[in-house]
Amino acid sequence: MEAGAKVGSTVYIAGAGPVGRCAAAGARLIGASCIIVADTNTARLDLVKNNGCEVVDLTKDTPVADQIEAILGKREVDCGVDCVGLEAHGNGPEANTEHSEAVINTLLQVVRAGGAMGVPGIYTNADPKASTDLTKKGQLPVDFGKAWIKSPKLTAGQAPIMHYNRDLMMAILWDRMPYLSAMLNTEIIALEQAPEAYKTFSEGSPKKFVIDPHGSVKKAA
Ligand SMILES: NC(=O)c1ccc[n+]([C@@H]2O[C@H](COP(=O)([O-])OP(=O)(O)OC[C@H]3O[C@@H](n4cnc5c(N)ncnc54)[C@H](O)[C@@H]3O)[C@@H](O)[C@H]2O)c1
Repeated sequence: MEAGAKVGSTVYIAGAGPVGRCAAAGARLIGASCIIVADTNTARLDLVKNNGCEVVDLTKDTPVADQIEAILGKREVDCGVDCVGLEAHGNGPEANTEHSEAVINTLLQVVRAGGAMGVPGIYTNADPKASTDLTKKGQLPVDFGKAWIKSPKLTAGQAPIMHYNRDLMMAILWDRMPYLSAMLNTEIIALEQAPEAYKTFSEGSPKKFVIDPHGSVKKAA
């Protein structure tokens, strides 16, 4: 929604983690046409591909716009969503190297003039462990010339969850998102399983873990 997706929109989602997969599920609920999800993580890409999305594999040497063109017949989409943030990696030979500016610049490249970008991925005003002096200060080498020329709408920041909470809950309860649980690949775990689950998640697992500390989900099921 924040990236301006509507019925028929073409959407590029950077990141196939839980946030990117939620964005893909949300785009589908809204009625987006072609939903393209990009990542370097092939297990996560397989998961979204098996759930009705197109994929851009950033480990390939082929530039993102070329991969989009191979899917869509066009090098640009209507909307872009950054579900990665400042831990972004580059693509091709740079796929294992952090480039915090990578997703923002990719979105500026692949979102059409007058399109829209949503940025739930987190950026901060200080990142002491970042790889360059600029990014340590939370600053990014952004292609502002392209931003000026294409003038996309940009929404960033904390997700306005309370704004959407009730409507999404109703959509789920009335089975309007039957693909959601397969897309998210959720596993309900007990509190004591959390350390192992965090480890698995940070290694790039395609699962989303939900901690059920009192066993209430299990009891309700
Ligand atoms: N705005 C909010 O309210 C809010 C809420 C929750 C999470 N977040 C943020 O959203 C972001 C994603 O969260 P997550 O839990 O899905 O994270 P995650 O780390 O599980 O997933 C991010 C994915 O992005 C991939 N990636 C790296 N570089 C990429 C690139 N250049 N292009 C495309 N994909 C790339 C990674 O391989 C990874 O699979 C994080 O920054 C998180 O902090 C924001």
